Amino acid sequence: MLSAVSRASAVRAFSSLAARAEAQHPIKNVTIFGAGFMGAGIAQVSAEAGYNVKLVDVSSAAAEKGVAGIKSNVARDARKKFAELAKTSAEQAAESERKHVEAIVGRIQATDKLESAVAEADLVIEAIVENIKVKQDLFRKLDAHAPKHAILASNTSSLRVTDIASATNRRDRVGGLHFFSPVPVMKLVEIVRTDDTSNDTHAALLDFGKSVKKVTVSCKDTPGFVVNRLLVPLMLEAIRMLERGDASKEDIDAAMKFGANHPMGPLELGDFVGLDVCHSIIEGWHQSYPDVQLFNPSPLLTKLVSEKKFGRKTGEGFYVYPPAAPKPAKK
Ligand code: CAA
Repeated sequence: MLSAVSRASAVRAFSSLAARAEAQHPIKNVTIFGAGFMGAGIAQVSAEAGYNVKLVDVSSAAAEKGVAGIKSNVARDARKKFAELAKTSAEQAAESERKHVEAIVGRIQATDKLESAVAEADLVIEAIVENIKVKQDLFRKLDAHAPKHAILASNTSSLRVTDIASATNRRDRVGGLHFFSPVPVMKLVEIVRTDDTSNDTHAALLDFGKSVKKVTVSCKDTPGFVVNRLLVPLMLEAIRMLERGDASKEDIDAAMKFGANHPMGPLELGDFVGLDVCHSIIEGWHQSYPDVQLFNPSPLLTKLVSEKKFGRKTGEGFYVYPPAAPKPAKK
């Protein structure tokens, strides 16, 4: 027989377990804000993992454009997936490709309506412009309209997740989910935990990262987390070498590709990520940490950005990208 005291503690333990089980909503519905290259990539891997996805942007045209990009990516993958079948039956392969694309893209809904997009969300992932005020404004609205249990995550690459979370009344359910470009190809996601992120939120974000077939690493809310803290100074050092005339851009890139086995040289990577993005990261860090020399701005980078030479997306950065030949000519 249980004593009154042990009965009371058993009841307490049971009710706290029940409360915990109730509080733990499995993630089924994922809402992504920002239908650009990163947001669309996150939407793609989420839909491929079986989640119901809402992809939100400021206009329905922008959100639809994101879905169109996903459709062509998934169609390319489907052609590879059913290439063997196509050798024996082109018709069956085409039908399988169509069903595969429909199943994945059918799970994604494009919208520009914030309230309805988050009404049933279990996880919201923000991948919008890297501007703290704009992000805080969005998180304030998400906090007001998303269900209480929903986790709010940011894909920020350079801002403090803590500052973004400060706009909400659920700091324990806010964290960073930092994906890499191009999202469907790059295998990593960084799971960023602030001092306020709860253990349950951290665990849910880790599970989500694994469910979208990424390798997960956990990190604190420090500038650039792990990858960008190493990668951005590397790019900056490469730009400084170019500024000093130590080597040509082609030789700097070739050196890191063939001497360090990087898939792209640092200047080519800057063009790929976007020089505007690199510039805004470094400007932000420099303002916050003026004594860290590695974060010093580069006059050449500032010049290219002021000339709107952002890299691949504008057709010119360190290299020129003619529309018909998107890859730079290499030596
Ligand atoms: N979406 C989906 N798939 C894509 C893709 C995209 N946008 N771009 C390329 N792919 C796929 C291709 O279909 C191809 O798939 P298969 O191997 O199955 O055929 C594969 O990727 C390789 O593509 P390509 O042959 O066209 O080109 P590549 O071999 O030169 O690889 C690359 C392209 C994957 C981008 C490679 O150059 C690379 O890994 N570069 C480094 C990328 C990197 O470092 N990213 C991180 C940037 S930092 C960041 O993102 C953080 C931040 O916050 C700024």
